[in-house]
Amino acid sequence: MASLATRGVDDAPRVRSVVLRRVTPEACEVCCHTDRRSGKLAEIARDARVSWLFYAPELKLQVRIAAQAAFVGDGAVADAAWANTGLSSRRAYLAPRAPGSACDGPSPNLPPNILDRRPTEDETIPARANFGVVVTHATEIDWLYLASEGHQRARFTRGADGAWSGQWIEP
Ligand SMILES: Cc1cc2nc3c(=O)[nH]c(=O)nc-3n(C[C@H](O)[C@H](O)[C@H](O)COP(=O)(O)O)c2cc1C
Repeated sequence: MASLATRGVDDAPRVRSVVLRRVTPEACEVCCHTDRRSGKLAEIARDARVSWLFYAPELKLQVRIAAQAAFVGDGAVADAAWANTGLSSRRAYLAPRAPGSACDGPSPNLPPNILDRRPTEDETIPARANFGVVVTHATEIDWLYLASEGHQRARFTRGADGAWSGQWIEP
């Protein structure tokens, strides 16, 4: 599981769990999917700086990535992501109301006819309009490896020319 932090529209930090959907190392891209009506997109539009957090317990590895984010809702990148999204995952994008909208009680925010089943391909067609990819470009990576004989930590920074430089730092 990944965590993605943004700067809230009130300037306070905001962090949430997301599913890491794609990493393209040669483009320094780290991506997740989201509903275009979700609050994080207004935050990213106002301040594109975001921070990713990953911890892999089996590897004893924490990775933090500072990045610049943009929302991609249309075009080839979003179309390809949608094509690779299964019907169960597409169901969330059929939500009739924007995520974060107030409601009178606990609400699944799904059309009643697909509450207890996977939608068909045709039924997910309207959901495409709500779907998009948060594409982020890494600018800094903080790598921390936990080891009983002593932790190891390194920082990698991407320069204006796109080249990466690395430096060991104290854990
Ligand atoms: C396990 C888990 C995975 C999630 N994956 C995503 C995701 O991939 N994309 C997403 O937008 N929200 C995902 N969410 C929901 C977000 O954590 C968050 O509640 C939602 O995106 C609204 O956040 P926002 O109001 O800051 O935009 C996930 C939540 C959990 C618990």
